Amino acid sequence: MLTKRTVSDLDLQGGERALVRVDFNVPLEDGRVADDTRIRAALPTIQLLLDAGARLILCSHLGRPKGREPETSLRPASDRLAELVDAPVAQADAVVGDSVRAAVDALEPGSILVLENTRWEPGEKANDPELARELASYADVYVDDAFGAAHRAHATTAGVAAHLPAVAGLLLQREVDTLERIVEAPERPLCVVLGGAKVTDKVALIDRFLDTADSVLIGGAMCFSFFRAQGHPTGDSLVEEEGVELARKALAKAEEGGGARLLLPVDLVLGDRFAADADRRESDGVAVPDGWMGLDVGPRTAAAYAGEISAAGTVFWNGPMGAFELEPFAAGTRAVAEAVAAAPGTTVVGGGDSAAALASFGLADSVTHMSTGGGAALELLEGKALPGVEALDDAQ
Ligand code: 3PG
Repeated sequence: MLTKRTVSDLDLQGGERALVRVDFNVPLEDGRVADDTRIRAALPTIQLLLDAGARLILCSHLGRPKGREPETSLRPASDRLAELVDAPVAQADAVVGDSVRAAVDALEPGSILVLENTRWEPGEKANDPELARELASYADVYVDDAFGAAHRAHATTAGVAAHLPAVAGLLLQREVDTLERIVEAPERPLCVVLGGAKVTDKVALIDRFLDTADSVLIGGAMCFSFFRAQGHPTGDSLVEEEGVELARKALAKAEEGGGARLLLPVDLVLGDRFAADADRRESDGVAVPDGWMGLDVGPRTAAAYAGEISAAGTVFWNGPMGAFELEPFAAGTRAVAEAVAAAPGTTVVGGGDSAAALASFGLADSVTHMSTGGGAALELLEGKALPGVEALDDAQ
C-alpha cells in the first residue's frame, strides 16, 4: 500500500507556495471543457491547500502539442476550475519565464495561478533538469496529484520532485491505494472484465490477472482475436491479427489451470455494418458469417457476466463489451455497467471508454472508484513502476 507522505501530512502555516501537478488533460469542445471529471477529481487536494492558506501554482499538460499550440491552452480548464472553487484563479501565459515569475510573486495566499500547457516546453517530455529546477524555484513544496500522467517520466511529473519537498495529492494516493489493493489484497472472488478493440493493449493485464484473479471475462472486439485463435469464422468482424497469437497463448495458459477462469462470449449481436441503422441480428453461438460483423455480446453472455460480477468480492472493469455508442449494440455494455453498479463488492472502473459508458447510462456515481487514469491505471495493474509515484518515493 501507499505509505508515502501526502498533502495531508504537510504542516502548512499559510502562505507557502505549492506547485501542484494535476492532470487537466480534458476533452475540449468549441473551446470549452466537455468533461470536467478530472478537474473535479483534483478539487479535494486543491481545497485542502486553499483552506490552509497556501498559494497554489497548478500545472498540467493538455493533449499532445508539438510546441506552443494555442488550441491546447489550459485556459478552458482554468475557466472551469474558477467556476468550481471559491478562490481567485489566474491563467499564466507561459509555463516558465519572466511573466510567470512575476505572476508567482504576485500570488496571494488562498489563490491559484494555472501555468500554461507544460508540453509547450520541450523540456517537459525530455524531463529536462533545468526546466524542473526553474519550476521548483517558484515553490516551497511539490504536490503530485496527476495520477493520469504518473506513467510519464516528465519534468512536472517526476523531475521536479528531486528539487522540493514532494508529497502525493489526495487523488493520486486514492488511485494508487485502490488499484494496488486489487492486485495485492482484493476481496475475493476477484472478477476482471476486459473489453475494447485490441488484445495487444490488454495482453499484459490478461496475463497478470490469469495469475491473480478468480475470473477474467472478455468482451468487445478483442474477443474476435480469441475466436480466430480457436478457429471460429469471424466474418467481417474487426479482428486484430497481431492479437491472435497472444490470444492463443492466453487460452493455453488458462487451459493449464491453477489460475483464473477465462470466460469468452457464448453468443453475439451481429450487424451488417458499423452503423446505428445497420441490419441487426442475434446469433446463438460465436461463428460470424461473411457479410456480418460482431458488434456486441449476446444476451446469454451478458447474463452470465452479470452473474459473475454480482457474486464477486471485487470487480475491475476496463473496456466496453461492444459498440455501445450505437444504441442497437449497447445492451451488452449496459448489462455489464448495470451489474457493476449494483454489485455488492468493491467495484473499480478504469479507462476512458468504460467511464464514458457508465456516464452515458447515468451510473457514474454508482461504483466504488472510477479511475481518472487510462494508461497509468493499466500500467500499475500490470505491475509496472510508475515514474510519478517512484519520484515521490525517492524524494522521501
Ligand atoms: C491521459 O489522458 O491518459 C493522460 O493525461 C496522459 O496523457 P498522454 O498519454 O498524452 O501522456
